[in-house]
Amino acid sequence: MSRIRVLTGITTTGTPHLGNYVGAIRPAVRASRDPQVDAFYFLADYHALIKCDDPLRIARSRLEIAATWLAAGLDPAQVCFYRQSDIPEIPELTWLLTCVTGKGLMNRAHAYKAATDANEAAGEDADAGVTMGLFSYPVLMAADILMFNAHRVPVGRDQVQHIEMARDIAARFNHLFGAGTSLFVLPEAQIEASVATLPGLDGRKMSKSYDNTIPLFQGGSKALREAIFKIVTDSRLPGEPKDPDGSALMVIFEAFASADESARLRSALREGLSWGEAKQWVFDSIDRELAPMRARYEELIAQPQHLEAVLIEGAAKARRTATPFLSALREAVGLRRFDAHSVVDAAPVVSKQALPEFKQFRESDGGFRFKLLDGQGVVLLQSVAFESPRLIGQLIANWRANGQVSADELQRVDPSADHAAVSNALQCLLASAGE
Ligand code: TRP
Repeated sequence: MSRIRVLTGITTTGTPHLGNYVGAIRPAVRASRDPQVDAFYFLADYHALIKCDDPLRIARSRLEIAATWLAAGLDPAQVCFYRQSDIPEIPELTWLLTCVTGKGLMNRAHAYKAATDANEAAGEDADAGVTMGLFSYPVLMAADILMFNAHRVPVGRDQVQHIEMARDIAARFNHLFGAGTSLFVLPEAQIEASVATLPGLDGRKMSKSYDNTIPLFQGGSKALREAIFKIVTDSRLPGEPKDPDGSALMVIFEAFASADESARLRSALREGLSWGEAKQWVFDSIDRELAPMRARYEELIAQPQHLEAVLIEGAAKARRTATPFLSALREAVGLRRFDAHSVVDAAPVVSKQALPEFKQFRESDGGFRFKLLDGQGVVLLQSVAFESPRLIGQLIANWRANGQVSADELQRVDPSADHAAVSNALQCLLASAGE
């Protein structure tokens, strides 16, 4: 059985905290040990430049994040572990993808929209402070994923739209240049339901932007203990019964403890254990898991030349896939050697795939309906009845012009249609409209 390629990137703008460890690093390291998984994990340092213009911070964060992953048990011999910026094929692919990405698609990206909405609310120009890096962020991310034809991309919910955009871009590229085959795998987002989102000190999601994080290795066990003692609890006194579910403390504990241990802490709190004692208990348990990693982390940080060698080796490994694949993609778009057969060949080398098609028809009940078929004639949707063919005509024209339909609208037209498949077909139609 062929292995599933799983790929994810970590933006290098900060120092990992406990939430990153529980939510991303630990599950990714575990997944990488599954023999069915072919893991590609990388430092998204080009993405970091979009968010941060402090060179020292970028440099420091790359080193710390690299050391964190290895300290957490990632085995670079088993996975492909590399820095995005060591793979020149990625920015090159970004350009190829940029040339087939609708500007309208990027206008709808949440991060960009959040920025323009905030500007508008403040009465400023919508694009004030928006760089092309921010605007094109999803294209670079699509290149990260498509470069290695990843099947699954573990991400947080906030990144799901980016994976959908990568699918759209891949489908359009496949349609334009794939000559009936798929150059790119269409990736799927993977949201780990079993992995907890760790609350921070104040009970909200642990996040740098809320300033409520617990450091993972930074500051040693002393800083870990201090942070745990700052977790907000209610003001019940020692001896008073406490509700274990009233505080972030219990959730954080459960991310590290066995079911048995959790049950014991719960009942101790109900029986009046003081918050101070409970915090010491939580600290001891977390520190037990982290202490050996922290020691390894400190060793790694002290030998940057070793980390450098590991990442250079990782990049070489990644490029054994990226370099030949990018040559094939250059070939596909027409960036070919002059002496190659395909330049002088009169017939185009790429024969276009058949296009999706709309078909209108009238049922015996008198209702007007339409279907959408993909290039192979597979029915992607069959509409409910409309009162007049004119309404259908308007609707189709609208969808074709936008290259998309909202999930809500599609739901009303055909509750059983697959939104992704219909979107792909509309993208294909839009892509072919200008030809
Ligand atoms: N944008 C992602 C984040 O902020 C990081 C990232 C960059 C990424 N490229 C990626 C994640 C490719 C998955 C796949 O979390």
